[in-house]
Amino acid sequence: MSQQQLRVLVLGAGDRGAVHSQAWKSVPGASVAEIVDVDLDRAKTLAEQAGVPRWSADWQAALAGTDAHILSNALPASLHADPTVAAAERGIHTFCEKPIALTVADAQRMIDATAAHDVQLAFCFQRRRIPAYAKLAELIQAGEIGRPIVHLQASAAEIRPKIAMHDKHGNGGPMVDGWCHFVDIMRIVFGADPVRAFARGFVFAKGHPSLAPIKELAIDTASVLVDFASGDLMSATWTWGMPKGVRLSLLGETLLGPKGAIRVGQKQITLIREGGEETVIECAPVGAPDPTHLIVRDFAEWVRGNGQSDITGAEALVSLKTSLAVLESIESGEPVTLQ
Ligand SMILES: NC(=O)c1ccc[n+]([C@@H]2O[C@H](COP(=O)([O-])OP(=O)(O)OC[C@H]3O[C@@H](n4cnc5c(N)ncnc54)[C@H](O)[C@@H]3O)[C@@H](O)[C@H]2O)c1
Repeated sequence: MSQQQLRVLVLGAGDRGAVHSQAWKSVPGASVAEIVDVDLDRAKTLAEQAGVPRWSADWQAALAGTDAHILSNALPASLHADPTVAAAERGIHTFCEKPIALTVADAQRMIDATAAHDVQLAFCFQRRRIPAYAKLAELIQAGEIGRPIVHLQASAAEIRPKIAMHDKHGNGGPMVDGWCHFVDIMRIVFGADPVRAFARGFVFAKGHPSLAPIKELAIDTASVLVDFASGDLMSATWTWGMPKGVRLSLLGETLLGPKGAIRVGQKQITLIREGGEETVIECAPVGAPDPTHLIVRDFAEWVRGNGQSDITGAEALVSLKTSLAVLESIESGEPVTLQ
């Protein structure tokens, strides 16, 4: 089993489809058999670039006819559930982009189908393979800046060129599509789950001509507070609703504690303690593999029967429920308790 050759069907030839295709190429014993995108030219271009022999436009037909072992899904979030269920019914494992889905019901269908057919399901929360976050978790759990922690983040982007990112029924807006990465990784850092969310939110991009085809716009701007069972707190303000040309450098990721603060970068962590002493910890060795490649390699091993996923459907569901609690709080004006 451990030497099994793996054939992969990649869904989506957009940005993440390209990343998935490259990631699978880096896995010994794996190859991408076909790339599917409703935009056939895009599928063909990516297939030719990545040296993939087949491309097509209809994911249902591709799944029905494939001999692949793995579905690698890089479609928008609204298209995560149905392909996963169809794949599971054919005994095919799914490696899927985040967020798991847009609704708990869809997420649960994915979890249930993969469990019923005994196939693997894991998600691309690649921050779990970024060394800076492993170091951050170590520092927080060792009490380097004390507890409780306040995780602060502010992020502002212009209206997104990919309109699915603004579609409530496409990718679900920033609090579902982007911020889920940070909920997922803070669960690891805090060693605890979210228990309560309070948020206010807006649609700044309402009426923008580029978004006219969207029937229901997602919340594109929100300020949120999320309590964790550990007593720690996430505090975030995100917008994808800035007008063109309004580019801001806001607060990246910072953690505050009673004994100091930590600034998080992709490659280094800065620890700041009493007296102003700053310690910079380099976390990215030269030539370190891309974190998505690492997750994909792990997924191949799980499919081959070596080890178990740490990024399961149940894990991804926690982030989705947190995002949905944020949206519910925005709608009701009340804090929302998570189960
Ligand atoms: N892990 C990460 O860091 C990360 C980063 C960005 C996006 N994502 C996630 O990856 C997924 C895809 O995002 P992206 O940025 O690659 O988007 P994208 O728009 O670049 O690509 C999506 C592709 O899906 C295709 N598509 C849409 N509907 C289809 C259908 N019915 N059948 C076949 N193809 C269809 C589109 O033509 C497009 O080429 C989303 O879930 C997003 O949240 C993850």
